Amino acid sequence: MYEVAAAYDGRFVALDRHMDRLRSSLTEARIDGSVADPLETVFQELLERNGFGESGRAMVYLQVTRGSAPRAHAFPKGHVRPTVYAYAAPFPATGDLSLGIAAITRPDMRWSRCDIKTISLIANCLANQEAKEAGAFEAILVRDGIALEGTHTSFFAVLDGIVQTAPLSNLILPGITREIVIEACRRNGLDVVEESISVEQLPAADELFLTGTTTEVVPIVRLDGRHVGDGSPGPLTVRIEQLYRSAAGI
Ligand code: PDD
Repeated sequence: MYEVAAAYDGRFVALDRHMDRLRSSLTEARIDGSVADPLETVFQELLERNGFGESGRAMVYLQVTRGSAPRAHAFPKGHVRPTVYAYAAPFPATGDLSLGIAAITRPDMRWSRCDIKTISLIANCLANQEAKEAGAFEAILVRDGIALEGTHTSFFAVLDGIVQTAPLSNLILPGITREIVIEACRRNGLDVVEESISVEQLPAADELFLTGTTTEVVPIVRLDGRHVGDGSPGPLTVRIEQLYRSAAGI
């Protein structure tokens, strides 16, 4: 299981929500959830010890595995101490992405519990590699004709002026940035619907954008080699990026 949280000038964005999601991933993997108890403090200490305690933007990456025991598919008998590994590192300003990025659509080859934040990410990695090789930033994963999410980001469309994103289900990660964006839109009078986006709807989308902890809110200006809208960041995306920044306090 893993988590990635971002901190700006020493303050994490929604660390409590990251901890809740970690606990739920741990429960799904039947790893003792109490390992998460001291982690908020550990996250803060990692920032401080790495010089991000007061200024700069940093992410903390945390990984929890079941622990060390002789190899078997079934869990080892008796108690095994989970292995916890974490580091803090700077992450690049997405300023360079604010002019918009290119994305491609790819078949979703992942398993059926994408709601669990597990480190088993081979399908995500291969799809993102295909995106990079196509000169794109992200691959939007499509299952049964539905555009679900990116390999490491949540996916939004603006269709007929309405912001739309896939509903929470076993097929997407419950993105924390996604949640903050939805709440911020609703507080500010923007309509958001959590409904499946079919690939057939994509060519007609006014705007497309991605959200994620380190990606923040990023416009998609090209999809599969075609312009999205007029090929520049759309007005709603720009507004939503500002709403996100103010909701996250960054
Ligand atoms: N990725 N969907 C997937 C498949 C993800 O891996 C992520 C996060 C998101 C966005 O979730 P959030 O807003 O909580 O970051 C959506 C992390 C950041 C990563 O793998 O580095």
